[in-house]
Amino acid sequence: MKSLLLLFACLYLPLSSAMAAENTDAGNVDDARIINSPEVEPGSWLTYGQSYKEQRFSPLTQITPDNADQLGLAWSKQIGDYNMRMQGTPLMVDGVMYVTNGWSVVYALDATTGEEIWRYDPEVDRSYIRLACCGPAHNRGVAVYEGKIYVGTFDGRLIAIDANSGEEIWDIDTWIPEGLGRFNITGAPRAAAGKVYIGQGSGESGRRRGYVTAYDAETGEVDWHFFLVPGDPNEPFEHPAMELAAQTWGGEWWKYGGGGTAWNSLVYDEEFNSLYIGVGNGAPWPREIRSPGAGDDLFLSSIVSVDVDTGRMNWFYQTTPGDNWDYSSAMDMALGEIEFGGEMRKVLLQAPKNGFFYVIDREDGELLRALPYTEGITWATRVDMETGRPVENPDVVYEANPQWILPANSGAHNWEPQSWDNELGLMYFYYHDIANFYSLDETFVETGEYEIRERGLSLGWGEGEYRRRLIEEADPRPESAAFIGAFDPITGTYKWRQPLESIYNGGVVATRGGVLFHPEGTGELVVRDTESGQALWHFKTPGTFRSTSVMTYQVDNIQYVATMMNGNRTIDTGGTVLVFKLDGDETLSVPEIVEAQIPQQPDDEFSSEQYRQGDTLYHAQCASCHGGIGIPSEVAIVAPDLRQMTLDTHSEMANIVLGGSRAQLGMPDFEEAISADQLEAIRAFIVTQARQLKQWQEDRQAEEEAANREALDRA
Ligand code: HEC
Repeated sequence: MKSLLLLFACLYLPLSSAMAAENTDAGNVDDARIINSPEVEPGSWLTYGQSYKEQRFSPLTQITPDNADQLGLAWSKQIGDYNMRMQGTPLMVDGVMYVTNGWSVVYALDATTGEEIWRYDPEVDRSYIRLACCGPAHNRGVAVYEGKIYVGTFDGRLIAIDANSGEEIWDIDTWIPEGLGRFNITGAPRAAAGKVYIGQGSGESGRRRGYVTAYDAETGEVDWHFFLVPGDPNEPFEHPAMELAAQTWGGEWWKYGGGGTAWNSLVYDEEFNSLYIGVGNGAPWPREIRSPGAGDDLFLSSIVSVDVDTGRMNWFYQTTPGDNWDYSSAMDMALGEIEFGGEMRKVLLQAPKNGFFYVIDREDGELLRALPYTEGITWATRVDMETGRPVENPDVVYEANPQWILPANSGAHNWEPQSWDNELGLMYFYYHDIANFYSLDETFVETGEYEIRERGLSLGWGEGEYRRRLIEEADPRPESAAFIGAFDPITGTYKWRQPLESIYNGGVVATRGGVLFHPEGTGELVVRDTESGQALWHFKTPGTFRSTSVMTYQVDNIQYVATMMNGNRTIDTGGTVLVFKLDGDETLSVPEIVEAQIPQQPDDEFSSEQYRQGDTLYHAQCASCHGGIGIPSEVAIVAPDLRQMTLDTHSEMANIVLGGSRAQLGMPDFEEAISADQLEAIRAFIVTQARQLKQWQEDRQAEEEAANREALDRA
């Protein structure tokens, strides 16, 4: 908790800025500059994916396999705390780095020293954590365009900031009632053709209907909305694509919202004046609940091409028709050119969660290739090139037979950025093989009725005891593995592939210099040889690089590599921008690791029934923020470890949980969701767990003391 309060405190410090006044031409970026940047200014990184093509392949050559071992830290700057995830890609424009932290606070930093030029805090409403599917607050970065910086905020706003002064120009709520419930924004906006584009997340939190909006970049006025799943068919359709889509849905899907949020990938293509939207999964996940007896459920898990002038659809391609597994297609997309059948084709490349790598013609959406990028696929056997559809495995039907399925809902490849070498036709990226246990929700199985809740359990994938029992009855979970490789999407083969130590890692950037930078989940930034994948150098941090990004830039003839370290539960830090260069000699100082001692626990007695009920309730309602207890979990937490609660907090607990006394601090009001008895059960679980940990700490301390005494005796 201390850290969260400290964070509040430091965000309100006065801005220190001398440079802002001097530089009056900051953020001077337009379409032509972004389009030409890889050739004209290879040292810049002007938009989320580097340039509009989002290839994230750098032409820079200063760092090579021969000198990579001379890399060192150039500077570091802590801009966040342990309780957020740093997922952003820093941009680098004219010597200034623009970067965000998990609470959507934007920093303009001197790219050579890390010195702060300005900082803009959107003062995000932290209660929006309740809408986040996957752990704490995160944000993937900004757009820079014609003197402005654009950021999408965790509480669903789009804000334009003056690139010179860091002052707010406009601040717009992107929510519209047609999109149903409120959203988080975690993705980076894109700016092109005079507009700014943004979609939202939170597809897992209650009723959501995905859409993307184009705003006038200057004024913030809405130009168009493009909906990604149809609304109530008794109302007029917003645009013709919705009429088409509605034919592929069944039941009363609009009551559930349907999902289809565009939470990450938006790619502008000046060659076809289009915006490609990577569309998310269905909600709830099981199609039997969401859209019973129906078909493809367009445009879930699709790539949709929209004309940026009219906001009307050009074409679509659906990677996972009738999504049943959370196989989102919102992963990053790269645009390139590939020789195909003797002809140069303008292609779009994507490795969505479902395990297949897609090569699609950007002009008309024709599917050119869809080969597996992992052996870890059980839900489908292949993609049929005649029909352009995956062939679902008839033996893997979790509605009838709950089971482990690969890939998991986290995907074989998630949003972590990839790097496309257009000359060699190779995609460098990391993926993992993890199975998820899929089953239908117990109440739905029993009653055929499904209840939508605001948090977490909108998935319909089975919950608590029921799910755990099914898992116990099933075979053990297949082993997990992770790899990084150089993939040829036309042949479906890897030029090389290397196993990774950590299952969850960051994105990748490769360079013409022959090196690849990869922040790994182990907390190491690793440099590899793009020829062989061999590791050449690494920098070990005490944090983690799980789900972070990396980029490279050059200023004054010095090439830099920038990434962001996340905290973990053992260090009281995190959210740090780390920048490397050849012969960098800075050291990374992080506070000492202090293991928190469990305080005195209340002496209440609880029954084992209460404990069991509390275990289920805790993991269903509290763990997404407070962290899994008793389950090894790598996920950083956003809220305090409840085993650390003092006796005073215990006595206040009803007020905090059922009375909403800390709602302003991000702790939701559970009055409607849980009863006083259920809260007591949760307490039974937490207290029992805390007593166990306390006992373990004391035993270990006693052992250490005994060992010390013995050593002293011997001495
Ligand atoms: C959406 C995220 C979220 C969820 C879900 C959540 N909490 Fe919290 N909780 C928080 C945050 C953030 C705080 C810190 C608030 C503050 O600054 O005091 C907090 C604080 C608390 C505290 C005070 C702890 C202390 O030591 O000061 C208690 C008790 C608590 N939560 C209980 C629960 C219980 C029980 C559940 C499940 C029923 C739950 N929370 C679910 C976010 C959450």
